[in-house]
Amino acid sequence: MATAPLTLHLCCLGRSLCKTLFLTPSPAALGSSPHVTFRGKFRRRISLSRRFSAGSTSREVEYELGFGGGVDEKYDVIVVGGGHAGCEAALASARLGARTLLLTLNIDRIAWQPCNPAVGGPAKSQLVHEVDALGGQIGKIADRCYLQKRVLNVSRGPAVRALRAQTDKRDYAIQMKSVVESTPNLSIREAMVTDILLGKNDNVEGVCTFFGMKFYAPSVILTTGTFMSGKIWVGRTSMPAGRAGESASLGLTENLQRLGFETDRLKTGTPARVDIRTVNFSGLEPQHGDEEVGWFSFDPEVHIEREQMCCYLTRTTSTTHQIIRENLHETPTYGGWVEAKGPRYCPSIEDKIVRFQDKESHQIFLEPEGRSVPELYVQGFSTGLPERLQLPLLRTLPGLENCSMLRPAYAVEYDYLPAHQCGRSLMTKKIQGLFFSGQINGTTGYEEAAAQGIISGINAARHADSKPVIVLERESSYIGTLIDDLVTKDLREPYRMLTSRSEHRLLLRSDNADSRLTPLGREIGLIDDRRWKLYQDKQARISEEKKRLKSVRISGGDLAAEVTNLSRQPVKDFSTLESLLKKPHIQYEILDKHGFGDKSLSRMEKECVEIDIKYEGFILRQQSQLQQVVAQQHRPLPEDLDYYAMTTLSLEAREKLSKVRPQTIGQASRVGGVSPADITALLIVIEARRRKAQELRRYKMMNAIRANSQDEVPEVSLTEKVSSG
Ligand SMILES: Cc1cc2nc3c(=O)[nH]c(=O)nc-3n(C[C@H](O)[C@H](O)[C@H](O)COP(=O)(O)OP(=O)(O)OC[C@H]3O[C@@H](n4cnc5c(N)ncnc54)[C@H](O)[C@@H]3O)c2cc1C
Ligand SMILES: *[C@@H]1O[C@H](CO)[C@@H](O)[C@H](O)[C@H]1NC(C)=O
Ligand SMILES: *[C@@H]1O[C@H](CO)[C@@H](O)[C@H](O)[C@H]1NC(C)=O
Ligand SMILES: *[C@@H]1O[C@H](CO)[C@@H](O)[C@H](O)[C@H]1NC(C)=O
Ligand SMILES: *[C@@H]1O[C@H](CO)[C@@H](O)[C@H](O)[C@H]1NC(C)=O
Ligand SMILES: *[C@@H]1O[C@H](CO)[C@@H](O)[C@H](O)[C@H]1NC(C)=O
Ligand SMILES: *[C@@H]1O[C@H](CO)[C@@H](O)[C@H](O)[C@H]1NC(C)=O
Repeated sequence: MATAPLTLHLCCLGRSLCKTLFLTPSPAALGSSPHVTFRGKFRRRISLSRRFSAGSTSREVEYELGFGGGVDEKYDVIVVGGGHAGCEAALASARLGARTLLLTLNIDRIAWQPCNPAVGGPAKSQLVHEVDALGGQIGKIADRCYLQKRVLNVSRGPAVRALRAQTDKRDYAIQMKSVVESTPNLSIREAMVTDILLGKNDNVEGVCTFFGMKFYAPSVILTTGTFMSGKIWVGRTSMPAGRAGESASLGLTENLQRLGFETDRLKTGTPARVDIRTVNFSGLEPQHGDEEVGWFSFDPEVHIEREQMCCYLTRTTSTTHQIIRENLHETPTYGGWVEAKGPRYCPSIEDKIVRFQDKESHQIFLEPEGRSVPELYVQGFSTGLPERLQLPLLRTLPGLENCSMLRPAYAVEYDYLPAHQCGRSLMTKKIQGLFFSGQINGTTGYEEAAAQGIISGINAARHADSKPVIVLERESSYIGTLIDDLVTKDLREPYRMLTSRSEHRLLLRSDNADSRLTPLGREIGLIDDRRWKLYQDKQARISEEKKRLKSVRISGGDLAAEVTNLSRQPVKDFSTLESLLKKPHIQYEILDKHGFGDKSLSRMEKECVEIDIKYEGFILRQQSQLQQVVAQQHRPLPEDLDYYAMTTLSLEAREKLSKVRPQTIGQASRVGGVSPADITALLIVIEARRRKAQELRRYKMMNAIRANSQDEVPEVSLTEKVSSG
């Protein structure tokens, strides 16, 4: 397939960065497709029926003739699965005007949160802000349904700062379902899809369901989550299920394999739920929400504050560890009857105890799952132990001595499609018009699912309309980083977004997600006039304010005195307000306090102004560091490197690099599990080693000359900030 990328310059989006986004034309747009585009409007095309009679078996044509007519069987886009990827995909597609059908196993479980009902957290929050900035839904629903919100890593700089919301799982599903149900051009139907219908040119034509229904569309998105040949496990006992209480999706895997797709198996698990009324919280450390609530969505319409609930912290005890060690053979992983890989970043409690032998205790968070349900989520305590051992195990935790268990912990094993079979538009390389998104692609998490969902929804709609598909570059967003990682790396374990996966993380912050992506959302057609005006007004206020801070100068006075005091740096006469903000520990509030702030700006706008000014230097440095990285692909790696000692590398990279021991930086960068951010960190370590060796030689030489010796070898700083802002 030819891909002469059209380049769309969305220049200087108000905020210091110039972005280039590439649009890759879809095969349909390039090929000899005779489709006429109805000015972006999706109407049933005459060519559709032509395609059916040409491309289908005669039986299908008969079916079509016999039952067709007024019945709604033809769509522009079909989305299979009503989970977090499916909802986002269906909404994006329908909002772009494509006639969209959402097929899902159980309508009552749309947008269900089967594991922790929480949205956001490190790196995942950036994904949520980005989906919102493009015109997606997840952020708005999380803002509407939060039980508690906290900003994590406040002290660690803006690149890793992350909003996390504990959500009400019932309310979350209800709210998302009602949005999906009330979106024009979006139909919902309960069905189990078992087959993909193909046309003559290896293009998708529709799907077939278990009960023999056929639905037709030129674009189909599969978002089947953990359901394909899903099997749940508690101890040694298993049953076919997509998640507890829901049937598995059977038959689809075989049909995808028949079409030539490679599938593999992954697993994940969820902890037990405990009755909140049986827990003694009095000895436990409470975890309150933030007093000033942060928001995922850039749309102030959903910024409605709610009463927050409290979470609690408890810890494993020596009895907990003892029960687990004695019963390891009873768990699927250590007993050896489940081989599928689980998520590294959400390990089961037995994994943690085996992997970190020397740790005497692990933190366990107790988190409510809703305002109207007594269920308490025991975060960090998922296990594969049989049910009979689970209650005794829970009761070893302080506060839970007398608890009762509402649902047992279980693990689920499912088929996925390694994503290297897709392009960065998320369209499969093999079959035109077929897209995969979410857990089916080997990712894990609601946010990762939503991020892929919106992109596949957009592209499925564009493909159906013969428009070029859209690809987000790594440097544009975490969404782009996620998808690039998925399709270029051979991932064999569930993929979770981490800030360390992005080499551009200082540029890809929560606060500027709208300035990075809302113009693109507008261009695509997901940002309506109201949102666009809000966005433009905000950008205008920010840039006005930055101009003002550059021009207003102060000499002496209370503000200068306090700034001097706080930053421990003198304030020169005629300093601009901008230069004050650049000083350490000086925040916008101080300008406000002394009457030099602009009171009409919102808290978020002030934060944007402050970060832009304060980190300007860092941001420029990150850009130039990146350019160096590219030039350094061929640098050799010393053979004696101790990767385990390099704390700036991710744990995964340390493990994989120690195993593979690559010879050059370029080779290291191609090792699965090693992110571009790891490479940057590695380069810094090598550079530091080189400088240290040089320093040491010089020092020895000088010592030889001066022959005065007792001092220590000077330390060369290895701590050039990589992981924090
Ligand atoms: C037990 C368990 C534990 C988990 N633990 C974690 C964790 O620790 N960390 C983490 O990040 N994530 C975890 N997750 C994963 C998280 O739930 C998913 O990442 C997220 O829900 C993925 O969204 P999705 O849209 O891809 O799929 P899902 O939300 O699973 O939705 C799939 C949808 O597809 C529908 N469907 C499936 N097959 C068909 C078919 N053939 N025809 C029609 N419809 C179909 C289903 O009805 C469902 O609506 C866990 C999930 C489970 C079940
Ligand atoms: C579906 O989308 C088309 C094109 O945008 C629009 O004209 C039509 O009114 C929509 N249908 C419904 C039911 O909203
Ligand atoms: C941020 O916060 C999370 C959760 O509190 C923590 O695990 C992580 O180490 C922190 N730092 C970074 C850089 O993400
Ligand atoms: C609850 O915990 C506290 C502190 O650990 C303890 O003093 C108290 O006796 C417990 N209450 C009950 C009913 O067990
Ligand atoms: C546990 O519950 C029982 C019965 O409800 C009660 O008698 C007992 O005091 C409780 N023990 C603790 C430690 O809370
Ligand atoms: C999902 O997987 C498909 C094929 O396996 C791939 O083409 C596509 O790019 C993937 N989607 C994402 C968002 O990574
Ligand atoms: C400077 O800081 C000290 C405490 O750190 C405080 O007592 C003093 O009032 C401050 N002075 C000004 C001018 O803010």
